[in-house]
Amino acid sequence: MGKKKFKIGVVGAGYVGLVTSSCLAELGHNVICYDKDKEKIRELNKGKSPIYEPGLEELIKNNLGRKLNFTDRAEDIYPESEVIFICVGTPSSQDGKPDMSYVETCAIELAKFITDYKLVVEKSTVPIRTAEWIERTIKLYNPKANFDVASNPEFLREGSGIHDFFQPDRIVIGVNSEKAKEILLQIYNDDDFKCPKLITDVKTAEAIKHASNSFLALKISYINMVADFCEKAGIDVDLVAEGMGLDKRIGRSFLKAGLGWGGSCFPKDVKAFVKMAEDLQVDFSILKEAYRVNERRIEVFIKKVKDALWVIKGKRIAVWGLSFKPNTDDIRESPALKIIPLLLNDGAFLSLYDPKAMENAKKIFPPSDKVHYANSLEESVIGAHALAIITDWDEFKNADLNRIKDLMLTHIIIDGRNIFDPKKVREMGFLYYPMGKP
Ligand code: UDX
Ligand code: UDX
Repeated sequence: MGKKKFKIGVVGAGYVGLVTSSCLAELGHNVICYDKDKEKIRELNKGKSPIYEPGLEELIKNNLGRKLNFTDRAEDIYPESEVIFICVGTPSSQDGKPDMSYVETCAIELAKFITDYKLVVEKSTVPIRTAEWIERTIKLYNPKANFDVASNPEFLREGSGIHDFFQPDRIVIGVNSEKAKEILLQIYNDDDFKCPKLITDVKTAEAIKHASNSFLALKISYINMVADFCEKAGIDVDLVAEGMGLDKRIGRSFLKAGLGWGGSCFPKDVKAFVKMAEDLQVDFSILKEAYRVNERRIEVFIKKVKDALWVIKGKRIAVWGLSFKPNTDDIRESPALKIIPLLLNDGAFLSLYDPKAMENAKKIFPPSDKVHYANSLEESVIGAHALAIITDWDEFKNADLNRIKDLMLTHIIIDGRNIFDPKKVREMGFLYYPMGKP
């Protein structure tokens, strides 16, 4: 199939929108990315990424002003673009259903600019039938509009979004017309993307995204339940996961026990899938339990801190990791956001350190006499009674533990991500509390 280049509009300059636009520009398409946030656009136009995502800023710089442009004005994106990817946020609202107002705004704004054929592609995670709503909305505001709505869900993991864009396991293309299918197969052509491509109708593609994300969350909750079992039974959960993972039917990935899943997707998407099922009179009880298991990880961890320290009041605790996972500055739904207030409530003094997420964390926990932000791993542990590990950054795994030990007052590690070998750290003289191990 030929490698036609398209004029592509991307709405939303968040994690998904920025990765999508810079990667499509890198492939040679003419991309314009639109976001309402003027400050964000100003920074992007200077070549500065508003988020930390490995490789992203380089891609933006490579293509800025040539294949990639940023704007905060609807009239700059919609009239010209042949294909429009919707990447605006779909945050949870009060009742657990996603707030679809940003997607609706996008459809309304876009409608008045449709003069010739346009393909509108949902990339954001959206409830089943969102495409039908987008279609209806556009028609309501522009009855003569000539367009298709397709679903091409993203499966990007933050921290490896660029890799996941170029080397996906699969590409799901949900379309209801031949024309839409052809365009998306030209963008995701076999030369650039060697992976399997699954063509479905739009509704099925929307469902695949939800079923996938919820399954991954369920898998992690399952191993965390196994972790609790292992701990009580005097077994190492990581060895059990290794043994399970060697079975191809199970697979080793997403079997890392610990503090559970956070981020902008899993918590929101699991809730949304449960709600969607409820609307169809299906009780998705297994997912409700996966959610509860995940929430209980925080209690399990806090109990370990208490078991380790006896009294928390007045203790100095170094906290490593604020982001919800490594290689990102994103703190949305990070376990740190729940653990920090609980420790502060119990009267601890905290010294926080994260390689990338401290600026974001400061907006929620401003520095105070109880909350200190350290400039390095080592600074964070000076005089600490204990070290609590919340995120599995490589920098933590590679820490010089002899040096860390010298700097700490008492040698206690509560490890929410099992980043160390228990035998080794114990031999070094630490009291070590991992998750799901004897
Ligand atoms: C979001 C969703 O959270 C996720 O479920 C979905 O799969 C993809 O979109 P993310 O890219 O991480 O993921 O969202 P976020 O970082 O919040 O970015 C959304 C962007 O859209 C923001 O920059 C926001 O300013 C922008 N936006 C929002 C608009 O430009 N217009 C709007 O009307 C609303
Ligand atoms: C996820 C999906 O993987 C991606 O396909 C989708 O498009 C967006 O949501 P993301 O949230 O960026 O990506 O990160 P992911 O790597 O999936 O991790 C999610 C959470 O699960 C993190 O908090 C991580 O720490 C946790 N996790 C992951 C575990 O606790 N154990 C594991 O084995 C894997």
